[in-house]
Amino acid sequence: MTNTSSDALETLAPLAQALAEPTRRRVLAVLARDGHAYPGELAVELGLAPTALSHHLTWLRRAGLTVAVLEGRRRRHLLSSDDLQAMLRELSPAATGGGSETRYAPSRIPSSHPHHQPRDLTAQQREAFRRTATLSRLAKTAALAGEGPEPIHDVNVPKLSAHDLMPERSPNGLRALSLFSGGGGLDLGFARAGMAHVASFELMQDAANTLQKAHPDWQVFGGPEGDVGRVNWKAWRDQVEVLHGGPPCQPFSVAGRQRGQLDPRDGWPAYVRAVRAVRPLAFVAENVPALASKKFADYVEQTITGPLGRDYTIVRLLLRAEEFGVPQTRRRVVWVGFRRRRDAARYEPPAPTHAWVPDGEPPVGLPRTLGVREALGLPDIGFDALSPTIRSTLTGPRHTTSILNSTAAQRVFAQLQIWPNGVAPTRERARAFVAANGHFRLSVPDVALLQGFPDDWPFQGATYMQLGQIGNAVPPPMAYAVASSVAAALA
Ligand SMILES: C[S@@+](CC[C@H](N)C(=O)[O-])C[C@H]1O[C@@H](n2cnc3c(N)ncnc32)[C@H](O)[C@@H]1O
Repeated sequence: MTNTSSDALETLAPLAQALAEPTRRRVLAVLARDGHAYPGELAVELGLAPTALSHHLTWLRRAGLTVAVLEGRRRRHLLSSDDLQAMLRELSPAATGGGSETRYAPSRIPSSHPHHQPRDLTAQQREAFRRTATLSRLAKTAALAGEGPEPIHDVNVPKLSAHDLMPERSPNGLRALSLFSGGGGLDLGFARAGMAHVASFELMQDAANTLQKAHPDWQVFGGPEGDVGRVNWKAWRDQVEVLHGGPPCQPFSVAGRQRGQLDPRDGWPAYVRAVRAVRPLAFVAENVPALASKKFADYVEQTITGPLGRDYTIVRLLLRAEEFGVPQTRRRVVWVGFRRRRDAARYEPPAPTHAWVPDGEPPVGLPRTLGVREALGLPDIGFDALSPTIRSTLTGPRHTTSILNSTAAQRVFAQLQIWPNGVAPTRERARAFVAANGHFRLSVPDVALLQGFPDDWPFQGATYMQLGQIGNAVPPPMAYAVASSVAAALA
């Protein structure tokens, strides 16, 4: 096959994605069989913007692979390459008489997360994604070699300091054990609040590496050794005053399939077993707010608050990250339990330390939570806002370096003139790889800051892994506020 036709196929990736849907697949099959297309009609059938389609056709024509002829008042595009037609036929199962049964192809990229659930994709769909990824990789390599467009922004110097949001407290004599520790949002917040870190248990080795790199002095169990389901917790009895953890939220998140206890990733039974075996003075358990919804009320009662309520007085908190100075819309539900009645009676939930006040509204008597642009040290464009909730897709169907979780979020990032996809590993590389729409490209330390992590928290693993650890985390300043409130009750 010539280079030209394989290049041309790159431009067909979105069309190939359309093959996922039967009607569109039939249209493409006809296109492949007859070797022609009418742009307007085809765009409608494929659900593509006519401009996107005409872009493809223009590109193919320029590459000498299509010819445009006028038939009456209609412009007809002929695919002029045998190679291209053959490839289109290959892309379309219907065109090759592949039958109606869908065959999925396994992903070739190994995940370093044992709970990763890859998407069901056909070989053709995988190929299409692969081509898009290849194109984007080529653009990135060119940009980093200095062959891309001129950088449009300086390396940003953030205005927000996460350390300032959680001033280090003196040791309070309480020892904390961390389960499902991830990249350390809770661990960091609890440590800054003066608790002694006793051990972390985390299945994902990259995340365990992050904790160990951040604190070589910490005891961190990672990989199979860190599997919460396999630990003999009785050995930890009387070793700690506080046990904290956030079992995976994917079984309950509105961004997931919400299969609750049917999801093999449900870690709550293991968490409850650990608390009952270790018998700490207090436990802290966190999750996505969806777990506090009616849908999971029975689950929560039967699996969490029921069994733990026999030995603990439990308080439920609904917290917002922006109330602790974190420039992001992020809510979390937290259950705090006390074994001694006296401690429970003294407990006071954390009060907000900061407030987000949109432009033009009066101050509310608390320090201001910064907007994203101000926090990241970007120039004033007359608009600022909290970051939309940073997605946590590590265990989702696709490895990604995008932090977007909805189209609403996409709109906010567009208004902020921030590009939330293709997050770069460093600020320097974000600057060098200019986003196609000219918006500011984010880097891992920027996303970490939007989650309340300090610049020097050394996330480990590939970029998508680092972003996954960030997206999964409790914002450390929120964790710090909870830990401080628990410490005050136990004092
Ligand atoms: C929601 S994240 C926790 C985030 C963490 N609390 C923080 O603030 O950064 C859940 C973590 O549990 C880990 N995990 C899942 N199953 C586990 C198991 N059986 N044992 C230990 N860790 C597990 C996942 O790898 C993930 O990092």
